[in-house]
Amino acid sequence: MKTVILTGSSKGIGLALTRRLLSMDYKVYGISRSFQNPEKNFIPIQCDILDSKKLEEVIGYILNEETEINLLVNNAGIGYFGPHEQLGVRDIQTMIRTNLEVPLILSKLLLRELKKNQGMIMFVSSVTAKKISTHGCAYSASKAGLTHFSNSLFEEVRKSGIKVTTIHPDMTKSNFYDNLNFTYEDEEDCVLLEDQIADAVEYVLKNSNNIVINDITVRPQKNKIKRK
Ligand SMILES: NC(=O)c1ccc[n+]([C@@H]2O[C@H](COP(=O)([O-])OP(=O)(O)OC[C@H]3O[C@@H](n4cnc5c(N)ncnc54)[C@H](OP(=O)(O)O)[C@@H]3O)[C@@H](O)[C@H]2O)c1
Repeated sequence: MKTVILTGSSKGIGLALTRRLLSMDYKVYGISRSFQNPEKNFIPIQCDILDSKKLEEVIGYILNEETEINLLVNNAGIGYFGPHEQLGVRDIQTMIRTNLEVPLILSKLLLRELKKNQGMIMFVSSVTAKKISTHGCAYSASKAGLTHFSNSLFEEVRKSGIKVTTIHPDMTKSNFYDNLNFTYEDEEDCVLLEDQIADAVEYVLKNSNNIVINDITVRPQKNKIKRK
């Protein structure tokens, strides 16, 4: 059985990834502040990932418990949108820390272990990393930074046998839009399902024996958003 550490396992894409990885016989350490019902081979780790000291302790604990970690999935993320001058300073800080700083720290803490096991790191970025995003300048900057980090990290560690993949989802049905003033158009070809992101992750895991899939971008057929 392989072991994965996944952030943001409580809802949305992270919950779908948790269920998929469990079905693929992974033991899942899920890090978030809240949890759904526990399942077999799922170890809930309650932690605010912005508490760097606790996060470091948590990783130390897991490394102590497990003989081998095979996969790190940096999924937790948040979005604040609107004209940039109207964003709160705290919201900007929280978003940059959650979306960019934490994945950088977790990668740093787990690289030695993953090198040992020829493991894999996945980053859940966003299509906004690759395009101009008015009213999402800071969010897209956090995701562009994440994608750039991922690409550079792969070049740094590829000789050690580590695989690095960035997933770029477009609008996906999840709790991400709960506190925003816009949301997805709830029609089949206008929004992705969380399970479709899990399909992409499963594809990467099943097709990475002798190759590295660095980038997957998943988009719905149509592009529509809805004001609330
Ligand atoms: N939905 C989309 O349209 C979309 C599109 C492109 C990319 N993405 C990216 O996909 C990833 C997952 O988003 P989602 O759509 O699944 O959103 P979501 O439903 O809001 O889930 C976010 C997850 O992140 C966790 N999280 C956030 N802040 C945290 C913190 N400080 N400490 C611990 N856990 C924290 C949440 O757990 P708790 O609240 O329980 O702590 C939750 O499990 C994000 O990186 C997002 O940027 C989403």
